[in-house]
Amino acid sequence: MQTELCKALGIDFPIFAFSHCRDVVVEASKAGAFGVLGAVGFTPEQFARELDRLDEAVGDRPYGVDVVIPAHDVPGAEKDPETLRQELFNSIPQEHRQFAKKVLAESGVPELPEGVKHEGEYLLRSTAATARRHVEIALRHPNVKLIANALGAPPPDLVQQIKASGRLVAGLCGDALQAKKHADQGVDIIVAQGSEGGGHTGEIGSMVLWPEVIDLVHPKPVLAAGGIGNGRQIAAAISMGAEGVWTGSLWLTTTESDLTDVQKELLLAARSRDTVRSRSLTGKPCRMLRNKWTEAWDSRESPGTLPLPLQDLVAAEATSRAKAYPQKARDVTINPVGQIVGSLHEIRRTRDVVRTLAEEYLDAVERLNRVTGFE
Ligand SMILES: Cc1cc2nc3c(=O)[nH]c(=O)nc-3n(C[C@H](O)[C@H](O)[C@H](O)COP(=O)(O)O)c2cc1C
Repeated sequence: MQTELCKALGIDFPIFAFSHCRDVVVEASKAGAFGVLGAVGFTPEQFARELDRLDEAVGDRPYGVDVVIPAHDVPGAEKDPETLRQELFNSIPQEHRQFAKKVLAESGVPELPEGVKHEGEYLLRSTAATARRHVEIALRHPNVKLIANALGAPPPDLVQQIKASGRLVAGLCGDALQAKKHADQGVDIIVAQGSEGGGHTGEIGSMVLWPEVIDLVHPKPVLAAGGIGNGRQIAAAISMGAEGVWTGSLWLTTTESDLTDVQKELLLAARSRDTVRSRSLTGKPCRMLRNKWTEAWDSRESPGTLPLPLQDLVAAEATSRAKAYPQKARDVTINPVGQIVGSLHEIRRTRDVVRTLAEEYLDAVERLNRVTGFE
């Protein structure tokens, strides 16, 4: 399964495992894949601790980091993240705060105990103000071999800085035009994510998007994302010219995943048709399980979602209350996941998932060889 990118990064399989959970990243990298830790859910201080622990656990294996910097950021990127967070938080209309609280109350989700803050009260996600600090910290960790940006190419000075440090820069995209733009902005690796993927996602399906992007940015390496749940899909991506695959949903139901048991139960029970692209988490279309939270924000009573990062600050209360009261929040928990959720049937260890993907890939290649008479 060795592609040029595997050789460049020193990994056994061209499988990139994105997760917000450190233990998943550790196990994926130790199993020969390439774990990528999502930074967006951590304050800079928390993130620094996560990377220290990751280094201790991962040994000499390489791994990557993913930050979230939108192409059109809010003004104030130069400010201290906490100052900017307070300003933005104070600008959220009462109507939106009240609506979120009403949706949670109607499902019987208790308020957080007195004095306990929700995430929006201490963390500013999805802005350069926070993400620049994440990058700064990542650059102090030698095992970090790649830094990706969820929403395209990082700002030019960051692209320069990351490359000058000897690391690779990746950017996610959902259509060919974006891919071209990222390539022109100096991104080393394009992650082409089809609409079926979990998290922020565009409208074009993987089967159409991958070859389109691969052709357009050639010879830049492309990682195929969106809808990878087994090794046959990896074989399809590699046969189309991808240098590897970038996966997210697959790791949510692993033993190591830090989702609550209730979330894992919901994911294991869901079918592929149970996801929806909803703006209710961040203000940008994000694929997640359809439930009372997503329906409420789409309903006639909804005040409409706010743009990034304001909606994130509104949804943060739901995320924190759902973590505190998982059982009571089962109908309104925000569960980003892709359509591949319909193929997730059991809790498996991360390393077993990696091994199974590799075996299935080899079976698929053998099948192709049989069909083409190369056996
Ligand atoms: C729970 C969840 C959270 C995600 N958060 C991020 C993120 O913070 N940054 C990012 O670049 N991509 C994020 N993604 C997208 C993944 O990086 C990846 O592109 C996507 O999961 C691939 O499609 P798949 O879910 O079908 O594997 C997220 C995906 C999921 C499922």
